[in-house]
Amino acid sequence: MKFDLTEEQLAVRDAARDFAQNELLPGVIERDEHQKFPAEQVKMMGELGFMGMMVDPKYGGSGMDTVSYVLAMEEISKVDASASVCMSVNNSLVCWGLEKYGSEEQKQKYLTRLAKGEIIGAFCLSEPEAGSDATSQRTTAEDKGDYYLLNGTKNWITNGNSASVYIVMAQTDASKAHKGINALIVEKGMDGFVVGKKENKLGIRGSDTHSLMFQDVKVPKANRIGDDGFGFSFAMSTLNGGRIGIASQALGIASGAMELSIAYAKERKAFGKSIAEHQAIQFKLADMATEIEAARLLCLRAAQLKDQKADFSQASAMAKLFASDVAMKTTVEAVQIHGGYGYVKEYHVERLMRDAKITQIYEGTSEIQKIVISRGLLKK
Ligand code: CAA
Ligand code: FAD
Repeated sequence: MKFDLTEEQLAVRDAARDFAQNELLPGVIERDEHQKFPAEQVKMMGELGFMGMMVDPKYGGSGMDTVSYVLAMEEISKVDASASVCMSVNNSLVCWGLEKYGSEEQKQKYLTRLAKGEIIGAFCLSEPEAGSDATSQRTTAEDKGDYYLLNGTKNWITNGNSASVYIVMAQTDASKAHKGINALIVEKGMDGFVVGKKENKLGIRGSDTHSLMFQDVKVPKANRIGDDGFGFSFAMSTLNGGRIGIASQALGIASGAMELSIAYAKERKAFGKSIAEHQAIQFKLADMATEIEAARLLCLRAAQLKDQKADFSQASAMAKLFASDVAMKTTVEAVQIHGGYGYVKEYHVERLMRDAKITQIYEGTSEIQKIVISRGLLKK
């Protein structure tokens, strides 16, 4: 294992940091308060190459490695986790899946625009009654010859309203259980496709999370990704990479909270000295730094394995499991270090604490990551 970052990777990290500080930080509190999707900022992220980072340039992407993606996700998540979840879904759940498993026609039609950030994508697996238990898909895609007839409801879809392209998992042949599920590309505007209500959330409030309804939507056969019945494998394989994105988001939320805590601890005076001079505060910072470094190494390790084309499913589950716990713990301590000021919006850490919680839930809860990790161990 070697983690000497290349000049190119460091340049990507610095560009993401500059973008986050200059473009995302102003207005992040207001967007959170008013649940405003960072549309302009996401457009800029596309122009800077952050929306299709790992996609081959021939399909409009930036042709970077997963390590660079982790570094960029960390920097953007330090400041605005609502922007970074949009970035993560577009990069790892939509673009990656399309590039790896899509047909040439699908790549030309959808990937080239998604990778440039001209349009945004969404990944639709969860349903009102199928979250962790994702094989229990109730949405159906009836095979009608030239097309599938799509019916059902998806829940909690990130980029739910702002997306133009949706990858929807649906059951075609229930007798085959998860091997009867297909992944279909659905376009906004197709007859019978309705974007439902927006969720009013605890955190990542700038991200637009919606339910989606499909009523007799005719999806051409050409929009199926992979062979008949490949949809669940597609979703699981894609989520392995997605979990690296969310682990890096958690890492960024934690390191953002630590940076704010260090600065505040040096400034704030109590009992005649800065609070940073009190050992209780120093020890909190030491714990934060150690755990964040461990989380970073797990994220980079998973990314490195993916870049080496090795099996990274367990590594990405470990990174997400650990980094999301670090995000939660670090942000709670960051609020504590800030005292009463930490409890109000101006100091950012209360938002980071609210944003941290989702990283233990989406793209597989912490309990599901433990299932993935332990099944991998016991299989060996
Ligand atoms: N990688 C590759 N394949 C995997 C896999 C993984 N991580 N996990 C499961 N599979 C495969 C299995 O090998 C099996 O395939 P075969 O039958 O061909 O061998 C198939 O999937 C079914 O697996 P299981 O028999 O283990 O099924 P299960 O029902 O007992 O468990 C599960 C499956 C792992 C719990 C799975 O349902 C799961 O991951 N659930 C969590 C769902 C999830 O992560 N949702 C995220 C939605 S997207 C999102 O959240 C985006 C966002 O917020 C921004
Ligand atoms: P449940 O599956 O009902 O779980 C409830 C609790 O039971 C959890 O603690 C869980 O860990 C536990 N549990 C369940 N099964 C087991 C078990 N076998 N062993 C031990 N514990 C178990 N989904 C998408 O498809 N696309 C998206 O873009 C997307 N974005 C999201 C954005 C937000 C803001 C949110 C809140 C969710 C999003 N999701 C998305 C859905 C998310 O992936 C699910 O919420 C998540 O997978 C958990 O499913 P659930 O909410 O149905 O909880």
